[in-house]
Amino acid sequence: MKTLTTFSSHDTRLAAKRLAKTLKPGTVIRLEGNLGSGKTTFIKGIAEGLGVSSAEEVTSPTFVLMHLYRGRVPVYHFDLYRLETEAELETLGFEEFLNDPSAICCIEWPEKAGDLIPANALTVHLEINGPEQRTLRITEGKKHAKGK
Ligand SMILES: Nc1ncnc2c1ncn2[C@@H]1O[C@H](COP(=O)(O)OP(=O)(O)OP(=O)(O)O)[C@@H](O)[C@H]1O
Ligand SMILES: [Mg+2]
Repeated sequence: MKTLTTFSSHDTRLAAKRLAKTLKPGTVIRLEGNLGSGKTTFIKGIAEGLGVSSAEEVTSPTFVLMHLYRGRVPVYHFDLYRLETEAELETLGFEEFLNDPSAICCIEWPEKAGDLIPANALTVHLEINGPEQRTLRITEGKKHAKGK
């Protein structure tokens, strides 16, 4: 587990941008944290790090549940806050997106997807410490098999 503290949204974005450069396509990132903790801000940095030129347009996909950003590696951005049933995820083809080996998949409010998210997903937990201070805890998921 890696823990870091950021002191502005710019800091959080920069931390995400750095992390993005180390990610392998096919990675799923769960973003946990309260409203306004910085999940979307973090995804902006991920998109930026992956060469998405319109990273400024990264906003929570409130009505469509998912956005796609085209960078060197495509980024899927899900926000499940308004999800009412897991059945909606099936309609959306959620699992196909999760299993896309060529993309990075970022999920806000992953708790809503229950067991659908693979155990090897990376988890970023953001904690609000003050108006501009956040603690980020980055945890690697369980690996599927030995040596992978
Ligand atoms: N250190 C920080 N890191 C991230 N965001 C910060 C920080 N300090 C202040 N902020 C502010 O907190 C807010 C975070 O908003 P953001 O939309 O990223 O949160 P969120 O977790 O996606 O919220 P939601 O659950 O509503 O989707 C922004 O207004 C941002 O400017
Ligand atoms: Mg958000």
